[in-house]
Amino acid sequence: MLAIAILAAGKGTRMKSSLPKVMQELAGLSLIERVLKSSQGINPDRTIVIVGHESNKVKSKISHLTEIEFVEQIPQKGTGHAIQQLIPILNDFKGNLLVLNGDVPLLTTNTIKKLVSHHSESHADVSILSARTNDPKGYGRVFADENGKVSKITEERDCSELEKENNLTNAGVYCFNWLKLREILPTLSNINNQNEIYLTDAIAKLPSAVHLETKNPEETCGINDKQQLSKCEQLLQEKMIKFWMREGVKFINPSSCTLSESCKFGKDIVVEPETHIRGNTIIGDNCIIGPNSYIQSSRIGDNSNIFYSVIKDSVIGENVNIGPYSHIRPNSNISNKCKIGNFVEVKNSILRKSTKANHLSYIGDSDIGEEVNIGAGTITANFDGKNKNKTMIGAYSKTGANSVLIAPVEIGERVTIGAGSTITQTVPSNSLAISRSKQIIKENWSLKRKNIKDI
Ligand code: UD1
Ligand code: CA
Repeated sequence: MLAIAILAAGKGTRMKSSLPKVMQELAGLSLIERVLKSSQGINPDRTIVIVGHESNKVKSKISHLTEIEFVEQIPQKGTGHAIQQLIPILNDFKGNLLVLNGDVPLLTTNTIKKLVSHHSESHADVSILSARTNDPKGYGRVFADENGKVSKITEERDCSELEKENNLTNAGVYCFNWLKLREILPTLSNINNQNEIYLTDAIAKLPSAVHLETKNPEETCGINDKQQLSKCEQLLQEKMIKFWMREGVKFINPSSCTLSESCKFGKDIVVEPETHIRGNTIIGDNCIIGPNSYIQSSRIGDNSNIFYSVIKDSVIGENVNIGPYSHIRPNSNISNKCKIGNFVEVKNSILRKSTKANHLSYIGDSDIGEEVNIGAGTITANFDGKNKNKTMIGAYSKTGANSVLIAPVEIGERVTIGAGSTITQTVPSNSLAISRSKQIIKENWSLKRKNIKDI
């Protein structure tokens, strides 16, 4: 039997944030979601998350992800105190307890598996994941002999100057024989620099403690402050971009781009510089994305180009051209062969096949048919001060430059709207609608003006 306990009760004072530390995000996923995700890869029998500071927020972030038993630690008196809270809930438990710090987000399932197998082979009371690093600052130091037997872990604050030179660090990942740990848990004290009950003090009290030094020390990066958060973000970004380059995506300037872990790419895609692809975005084959574009949770069809533009929560078809400087807001559906151009904003609208909106328009809450030409400066006036209203435009219609379509309004098929019109009523199919004042010419008007110059 294997139970997992994830430590997620701390406030994260060093993060200087109103968000609980484990809810800080890396590449679109919170630290706690990441730890949970990699730990589930080993198929534990039980998953316990220890929460405390802002526990409701942490719970609601993860409770839907898997079957989790939550244990409250209030107040938070240290990592050992957190594990002491498990004594009642693991009363009848006789297996191994894998403890993971909720702020070590880059740890992979593979590394966790290695630690668990090492533990089963060694039959030790505890197996500790350790990492050899050039910069051990802030980590607990693992004191071990050449056979891998650990005598103690000492927190940096409690280390002597000589002890600080030991660069074998504690990753905050341990596999314990629960019954052995339970025996000594009540004996942990808080006599240390921080007056906290440290889980790491359990190590010296267990007769057989061993460590497994990871071959991937960058995975054990713990996050306490914004600098460490940023360092991990960079590591993760590099890793994801390398992965997609191996899959055939061409990045012109990879270090200027960011991705989220849930985005997916097809073949022969070019990602231009300064492009950010977030959320569950899927990019089809042969697309050129960027430069300077931001795409959030959207689907882009094959052979489409997105140039200097922003797209959120929308679906873009095949052979679509978007940009420069277009803004596609949530719930828009831009069908195949459409063209959205300079300074055009689309929101919650359908644009059907081969429709064009090339310049300076706002299209909101609209359903626009095939092969419509939206003239420069066309605005759907969708908000009447209270409600958002719908604009419908039938296939093959054209709106003249500077048309204002006051919603709710319906425009039929093959309609032409004269430039500068304000349309408030239904326009039947096949008609021309013009609504603007007639042009008046007053001949020689200038000549009659007083003080006129240059005559
Ligand atoms: C801890 C380890 C240190 C190790 C490092 C690895 C201890 C005493 N020290 O130090 O040896 O090198 O992690 O990153 O364990 N937490 C609770 N309840 C508490 C206190 C903390 O649930 O009362 C949680 C935090 O939310 C966090 C985790 O435990 O997810 C680690 O706590 P943190 O204070 O960050 O420990 P470190 O000082 O980093
Ligand atoms: Ca930490």
